[in-house]
Amino acid sequence: MSAAQPTSSQLAAQLPKLPNKHIAHIPGDYGMPVFGYTFDFLRDFPGLVKRKTDEYGEIYRYNVLFQNVINLVGPDANEFLLKDTHHNFSSKLAWDVVLEKIFPNGLMLRDFENHRFHRKLLQGAFKKEAMVGYVDKMNPGLAEGIKQWPLNKDFRFFDHIKALLLDLGAEIFLGVDLGNDAKRINDSFIHAVDAVLTIVKLPIPGTAWYKGIKGRQFLEHYIGSQIANKRRHPGNDFFTQICQGKGDDGEELSDQEIVDHMIFLLFAAHDTTTSTLTSIVYTLAKHPEWQAIVRDEILALGKEQLDYDDLGKLEKTSWVFKEALRMYPPLPTIPRRAIRDCEYKGYKIPKNAAVGIHPMHTHYMEEYWTNPYLFDPQRWSPERAEYKKHFYQWVPFGGGHHKCLGLNFAEIQTKVFLFHFLKRYTVDVKPGYVMDFQTVPLAMPKDGLIVQIHRR
Ligand code: HEM
Repeated sequence: MSAAQPTSSQLAAQLPKLPNKHIAHIPGDYGMPVFGYTFDFLRDFPGLVKRKTDEYGEIYRYNVLFQNVINLVGPDANEFLLKDTHHNFSSKLAWDVVLEKIFPNGLMLRDFENHRFHRKLLQGAFKKEAMVGYVDKMNPGLAEGIKQWPLNKDFRFFDHIKALLLDLGAEIFLGVDLGNDAKRINDSFIHAVDAVLTIVKLPIPGTAWYKGIKGRQFLEHYIGSQIANKRRHPGNDFFTQICQGKGDDGEELSDQEIVDHMIFLLFAAHDTTTSTLTSIVYTLAKHPEWQAIVRDEILALGKEQLDYDDLGKLEKTSWVFKEALRMYPPLPTIPRRAIRDCEYKGYKIPKNAAVGIHPMHTHYMEEYWTNPYLFDPQRWSPERAEYKKHFYQWVPFGGGHHKCLGLNFAEIQTKVFLFHFLKRYTVDVKPGYVMDFQTVPLAMPKDGLIVQIHRR
């Protein structure tokens, strides 16, 4: 009798932490000794992907950040890696490299059956009833927050929206009133995120890494100490929802699992949404005709606040949201690790190889998008429906097993923000201004996006 085949989780657990370096049979090159293409990656990642794709085609190897990586390009590749029909790829092994120490055990750092189980338990926090409660908090939070912004003079939009979303996040995610523990929570969170991005990871007092570890410890302690209270006094926040999550057989999350999921959710939600709102405001400032279209759609509702049932009526606002995410997807790459040998378009992907795809590259492919460098929200209209050529041609939220759980939340928050922002202000940038943005580690403007707002 033959022994039972190991499960995907067992295979993943047997692999070493560092990826397989032996991928020389894939077309490509490793670039400079030691550093490979790391500098190009940090300077202009989309340019690097384009050059390599032109040179080698839709599968190639290179070396970045001291790792040999196989890059797969285009919608078929996105489908292959994200849909992962045969469970060949681990998300955990790939993301652990960057996130394990500060954001351990979040959903992206789980695989297969364990991931399915936890994803199901978290899903209640993203259902309609929960969203209605979040919208009620977003309206006053965003309407009041933007009133403090400076009028008629240059300011860095990115910094202001980041601070506002942090305050709102403390309220919507944790149910914390501004003023109470919000400042300490926000500072701890910022330190934790900064630590992920730091190169020198030594616990020396004063360093970003040290502050990040301390920030994580504070968040753990704070969230852990509130769980019993949240269970007794439920509120309209993610924290309450996660505490109430139940599996098919009534299983509940342990306190440590709640803590890990909550901290990861804050992380997954914050910088991505900040990046998205920044790109949207940039595109609307550059394209006053679209700013007017979105404002007219909002004004046509004739309301003082945006209710959940109004969201579906903001159709053109949705087009702008999708178009900005097409042009500036916050995540530059989605990484995975092969847990067994497999094959893509005739090339063997060896066990434990690091593999990546590139949302932004796909979003500019001329085979799928007309004039891809043009901001053209109309391409999302039912008449043009350009996005329908391939299910995986637009992937700012990934796809398949790990598709972003917060995609509706992100769109809702965008709509509530634009509702209040465009009713109150017009926004512009200096003539000829072009946003110079970095794509790594997340898409964001290098100068913070300098805009002016004016009272309508
Ligand atoms: C526009 C904003 C956002 C973008 C562009 C974005 C993008 C992504 C992407 C690309 C992934 C998949 C990563 C992978 O497959 O490895 C992902 C996963 C995830 N996102 Fe988002 N995200 C956004 C907002 C949010 C928000 C607001 C939340 C929570 C409220 C959130 C929660 C999550 C979670 C929990 C996962 C892990 C899902 C899983 O592994 O099953 N995201 N996100």
